[in-house]
Amino acid sequence: MTCAGGPWSAIDADLLIVPLFQGEGTAAIADLDAATGGDLGRALATKEFQAKPYELSFATIADKTWRTRRVMIIGGGSAERGTDLVRKLASAAGLAARQRSVARAAFVVRGSAAAADLAQAVAEGLTLAEFYGGTYKTDDPPPAASPVWTVVASDAADGAAVQAQLAVARGRILGECSNLARELSNEPGNVLPPREFARRATALASEAGVKTEILDETQIEALGMGLLLGVGRGSAEPPRVMVFRYDPPGAPATPVLGLVGKGITFDTGGISIKPAEKMEQMKDDMAGGAAVACAMRAIALLKAPMRVIGIVPTAENMPGGKAIRPGDVLTSASGKTVEVINTDAEGRLILGDGLWYARQLGATHLVDVATLTGAVVVALGKVTSGIFGAPDSWVERVRAVANRAGDRAWPLPLFDEYKDQIRSDIADLMNTGGRAAGSITAAMFLKEFAGDLPWAHLDIAGTAWADEAKPFLPKGPSGVAVRTLANLAFERFDAQG
Ligand code: BES
Ligand code: MN
Ligand code: ZN
Repeated sequence: MTCAGGPWSAIDADLLIVPLFQGEGTAAIADLDAATGGDLGRALATKEFQAKPYELSFATIADKTWRTRRVMIIGGGSAERGTDLVRKLASAAGLAARQRSVARAAFVVRGSAAAADLAQAVAEGLTLAEFYGGTYKTDDPPPAASPVWTVVASDAADGAAVQAQLAVARGRILGECSNLARELSNEPGNVLPPREFARRATALASEAGVKTEILDETQIEALGMGLLLGVGRGSAEPPRVMVFRYDPPGAPATPVLGLVGKGITFDTGGISIKPAEKMEQMKDDMAGGAAVACAMRAIALLKAPMRVIGIVPTAENMPGGKAIRPGDVLTSASGKTVEVINTDAEGRLILGDGLWYARQLGATHLVDVATLTGAVVVALGKVTSGIFGAPDSWVERVRAVANRAGDRAWPLPLFDEYKDQIRSDIADLMNTGGRAAGSITAAMFLKEFAGDLPWAHLDIAGTAWADEAKPFLPKGPSGVAVRTLANLAFERFDAQG
C-alpha cells in the first residue's frame, strides 16, 4: 500500500476509485467527468447514480492522457463526511474491487476531516476489506488476491502526500491487526482451545517486540485465581493466562494502561447449558481477548509512548463431572467470594481475576473488553458496544477514542442501587443479578474487581460478530476494539483519566 499526491490523471492503476457525496454534483469531479466524456454527469442527471451510501457506478476514462482506464464512483450519501464514513467507504470499495479481481486500485481520499486522519481511515478500511474467513473451504476457489493499493492524497501538494504516507502506514498496521483478531475469532473451538489460543495470540504480540508470558494451571492456582480455575474446571483443556508487557525505553513510570480481554474459547454455558440454537456462535467468546492481544501487537508496531500491560484469562466453559455447579462458592484472587448462580455467567468470573491481576502488575488505568452479555444486544443491537465504568471522565475518553476508531460505543449507568441485585446470602457476590439490567449488573460485578482505578468496560457481545453482510463488512468477525485499544496508548491522561 503506497500513497501518492499529484493530479488524478497521473495515477497509474487498473481502477481509480472516487467517493462522491450527495449534493456535490459533478462540479466536484469536473476533470474526471470530462475525461469520461461526460458519462458521470449523465449518470447523475438521469439519476442512474444518486451517490447514495455505498452505491457504485463505473465508467471508462476515454481521455488517453490519463493513465487509468476505468473509474468507480462510490456514493457517500449526505449525512456526514468524517473518518467513520470514509473508513466504511474504503472497506466497501475494497470488497467491490476484490470481487472484481482488480489487480491495482487507487482510492482517492475525499471527506471533511484532517487530511492525515482521512488517509489513515482509508488505509484501515482498505485493509479491513482483505479479511477472508473461508480458509476451511476446500472445494471453493480461493478468493482473488486483494488489489495492490495506492491511496491518493486529497491534496495535490507533495507535502500532504508525504504526511499521508505515515498515516497510511499507521492505518495499514491497525487494519492488519484488526484482521488478525478477526482470524482468531473465526477459528472454531476445536482448533483454538485455551493453550492454542495463548500460543498464537502471544506469538502475534512477541513478534512485534511485546514481552509475553503464558501462565499455566499451576501458576494460576498459586496466584489464587479461583474464579478462572472454577470456570475452566469442566473442560479437558486447562485454562491459561496470557500476560503482555509493553515497556518502551524512556517511557514514564506512569500511566500504565491495563488491557484485559475475555478469552472463553468456547462457551457452552457449562452446567447451566445453553440451548443448541446458535450455540456454534459461542466460538467467538474470546473476541475481547483477541482484541487485547492484537492491540498489544499494534501498540508495539506503532511504538506507542506509554507502558501497557495486557491480561487475557482464557478457558473453555464446558459441562462435565468436574464442572462447577450452580450454588458453588468460589474464592477470587482478590479474596472476594462468589456464589455461582448460573455457570453461563462465566465471563465476569474470569475477568474478575484478570482485572485483579492487571492491578497487581501495576496498571494505573483499566479497560476490559468482553463478549459479556446477551442483554447488551437487546439494549443496543448489533451496531453499538455498551460502555460502562468510572469515573465518567475516563469512560468518556475511552468512548471518544472508540468512536474515532470506528468502534461505536454508548454508555450505560452503574448506579449503586444495581449492586443490590448481585448480593448473595452466603458469599460476597452472586455472579448473576436476574433479568433486569443484565448488562449493567454484569458490569457491576466487574467493578468489584477494578479497585479504585479508572476503569472502563466494553461489552462487545453485539458488535464482535456480524450476522448479516453489509456493503462494508462481510458476515463474520468484525475485529471490534483492536483500534480503540491501540489508539488509547497514544492518549495523554491524568490520574482521573
Ligand atoms: N458469552 C455470553 C454472552 C453472549 C451472548 C455473547 C450472546 C454473544 C452473544 C455470556 O457468557 C453469557 O452466556 N451471558 C449470559 C449471562 C446470564 C447467564 C446472566 C447471557 O447473556 O445470557
Ligand atoms: Mn456464558
Ligand atoms: Zn461467555
